Amino acid sequence: MATNRENFGSRAAVIMAMAGSAIGLGNIWRFPYMVGEYGGAAFILVFIFCSFLLSFPIFLSEAVVGRRTHSNALGAMKKLAPKSGWTALGYLSVITPMIIVSYYSIVGGWSIEYFFKSFTLNFGEFRPSGWTPLIFNTIFLALSSIIVAFGVKSGIEKFNKISIPLLFVLIVLIMIYSLNMPGAEKGVEYLIKPDFSKLTGRTFAFALGQSFYSMSLGMGIVITYSSYVHKDENLVASGAGTVLAALLFSVLAGFAIMPAVFSAGIAPSSGPGLVYQTLPHVFSGMGATAPILGTLVAVLFFFSVVVAAMTSSISLLEVGVAFLVEEKGLSRKKACLIVFLAAWILGLLSVFSIDIFGKVDAFSSNFLLTAGVLLVVLFVGWKMDKEEIREELTNHMTVNKWVFGIFYFLVRYVAPIVVLVIFISNLVL
Ligand code: PHE
Repeated sequence: MATNRENFGSRAAVIMAMAGSAIGLGNIWRFPYMVGEYGGAAFILVFIFCSFLLSFPIFLSEAVVGRRTHSNALGAMKKLAPKSGWTALGYLSVITPMIIVSYYSIVGGWSIEYFFKSFTLNFGEFRPSGWTPLIFNTIFLALSSIIVAFGVKSGIEKFNKISIPLLFVLIVLIMIYSLNMPGAEKGVEYLIKPDFSKLTGRTFAFALGQSFYSMSLGMGIVITYSSYVHKDENLVASGAGTVLAALLFSVLAGFAIMPAVFSAGIAPSSGPGLVYQTLPHVFSGMGATAPILGTLVAVLFFFSVVVAAMTSSISLLEVGVAFLVEEKGLSRKKACLIVFLAAWILGLLSVFSIDIFGKVDAFSSNFLLTAGVLLVVLFVGWKMDKEEIREELTNHMTVNKWVFGIFYFLVRYVAPIVVLVIFISNLVL
C-alpha cells in the first residue's frame, strides 16, 4: 500500500498545504481581536514566543510521526505502537477533525453567502441557522470534498499552491485600502500599543490555545499531511516556513480589519460577530462614500474568507479520507463521499442551532484539541524511540543536528507540563 502513496511535489508545496490548513478563520476573526484586547504589541510578542517555543516543537512531533510511518493518523499509531493503548490517540486524531469540519464548513457556507451579498453591499440581518445556511454549507462542503477527491497532488497541492499566494496578495491589498481610511490610526494603535499589564497567566493560556488552533495541532492533520512529505525533505525547515506564514497572515489580517473597523467608528468584536455583522456595516459605509471601491473590497474580502476556510476544511477532510482509504480499503472517491456525508449529517445539529454550534466548537477546539496535543507530546517525548525521532528530524544526521537536543527537551519536559496545565484549566474554568 505504501508504494502507491502520493507525495507533495516540493518544499513549497508542503509549506503551502500546511499553511493552507493553518491559515483560516482563527487568523481572521480571533487573532486581531485578541491582540487588541490582551495587550497589543505585548500580546504579539507572547504569541510569537508561544508559537516558536511550543507550537513549533509540537508541530514537529506530529510531523515526525507522519513522515516516519507514511500513514494516516490511525495507521501511524498502529505502526509505531502496535496493539497498545496509544491507538486511542489514532482514533481521537481521526474523530476530532470530523467533528470540527462539521461546523467549520457551516462558517464556510456563511462566507459564500456573504460573498454573493457583497456584490450589492446589501447584507441584511445575520442569520446563522436554518435552511439558507444549510444550502450554502452543502455547497461549501461539496466543493471541499471534490478538491480532496482529486488527490494529494492534483487536488490538495494544486489548490493550496494557487490559494495561499493569492490570499497573501488579497490581504495586503485590503490592508492598504484599510490603512488609508480616515481615522485608521486608531485601529493601528489598538493593535500595537503595548500594554504589559494585560499579560497574565490567562493571557498566556489564550495565546497558546489560539496558537494550537491556528497551527491545526492535535487533530491528526500535521500527521496526515506529513505522511505525504518526501523522506529527503527537511522537516524543520518546512515547519518553520509554515509557522512564519501563519504568523504573518494573522498580523496582516489584523491590519486589514481593525483600521477599517475603527475608521467606521464601531467597537471591535471577535468571532462570527466581527465578520458577519461588524464588517458588513463597515463595507456598507465604504459603499456610501466610494461605491465601486467599497464593493470591490467587500467582494475580495469575502472571497478571501471562503478560500481561507476551504484550504483549512480540505485538511480536515483529508484526515478522514486517508483513514478510510488506508485502513478500510476504500477508493479515494468513495472515501470522500462518505466523509462528506458524515460531516454534512453531523453538521445538521449545528446548522439548525447556533447554541449547539457554539458547544461543538468549544468542546472540540478546547477539550478534544488539547487532549490530542497532550497525547502527542507524551507519545513522542516518552514512548517513541528516540533514535527514530532523531533520524526523522535530522534526515539521518545530515541536517539540523543541533536542533534535536532542544526539540527533545521541549517536547519531553516543557510541553507536557504546560499543556497539562491548560487542559486542566480548560476543564475547571
Ligand atoms: N487553523 C485553522 C484556522 O486558524 C482552523 C483549523 C483548525 C483548521 C483545525 C484545521 C484544523 O482557522
